[in-house]
Amino acid sequence: MSDLLGYEGKTVVMTGCATGMGAAAAEMLVGLGAEVWGLDLFDVKAPIHRTFRVNMMEKDTIDAAIAELPAEIDILFNCAGVPSPPTPAHDALKINFIGLRHLTDALIPRIREGGSIASIASTAGMGWKSNLDAVKAFLELGTFDAAVAEIEANPDKYQDGYGFAKQCIIVYTQMIAGELCEKNIRINCIAPSPTDGVFMDNLAKAMPREVVMPFTPANGQIAQPIDMGKVMILLGSDLASFVSGVNLPVDLGYCAQIYMGQRDNLMNIT
Ligand SMILES: NC(=O)c1ccc[n+]([C@@H]2O[C@H](COP(=O)([O-])OP(=O)(O)OC[C@H]3O[C@@H](n4cnc5c(N)ncnc54)[C@H](O)[C@@H]3O)[C@@H](O)[C@H]2O)c1
Repeated sequence: MSDLLGYEGKTVVMTGCATGMGAAAAEMLVGLGAEVWGLDLFDVKAPIHRTFRVNMMEKDTIDAAIAELPAEIDILFNCAGVPSPPTPAHDALKINFIGLRHLTDALIPRIREGGSIASIASTAGMGWKSNLDAVKAFLELGTFDAAVAEIEANPDKYQDGYGFAKQCIIVYTQMIAGELCEKNIRINCIAPSPTDGVFMDNLAKAMPREVVMPFTPANGQIAQPIDMGKVMILLGSDLASFVSGVNLPVDLGYCAQIYMGQRDNLMNIT
């Protein structure tokens, strides 16, 4: 059997493919024969089909890309994201979720039957269950502009812009899995543990690198971007053809240890 993953000839849209997990996934996708359309603030090194200069916190730049993206798409990968700190909390919420949701909602009607969406959440969003009412209320705002107006009207409510954005990705993924199933489209996300690269370097500008150690797996290992890129490729692929509505921790058992009461539950994970 060849092309088990099924990416040959597929049209793929990916945010955040200049560096890190997205860049690792984009390299693999090109090698697997996909036509990759990238959206990023920075230049993309992987030899993808076309890149749009997009700032995920600026709706106009997202809309400009949407206007030029293909009319039919097979797979959407949402990889763009920034740590907060140093990114201000509200900007992180806009980039990491509000922009992601705007793009995803706009592209869903273009995703072909059998297609899929995979997004990158975080261990930092794993406490979504204990904050579900607030997350659902935020999702019900619906549009980019309404979400921005809400955080501007209630700035103190969104001081953990990073964690809240990641909770929103996880809940959004589960909320729309049913309606997408009726269109034969899958949606999933991953929750990576700390991973090396630009993200971690930027975080280290605001806090000592050791701060992430309580969130690493039992062996203390920091993941490499390719560790996450591979799982994104898997979830978007034909190999995962019956997998949807899943938030998959990619953390070498970190969340498992919390569920089993073997680690301090620093994220209020239930
Ligand atoms: N690195 C970690 O420890 C870690 C852990 C959990 C989750 N995550 C999440 O994984 C995803 C990928 O992170 P990474 O570790 O590969 O980091 P990274 O910084 O290497 O990659 C982020 C990508 O997003 C792009 N980007 C950043 N801001 C943007 C903006 N405003 N508009 C458009 N593109 C923008 C960057 O240019 C880059 O290509 C992010 O969503 C991040 O929140 C990272």
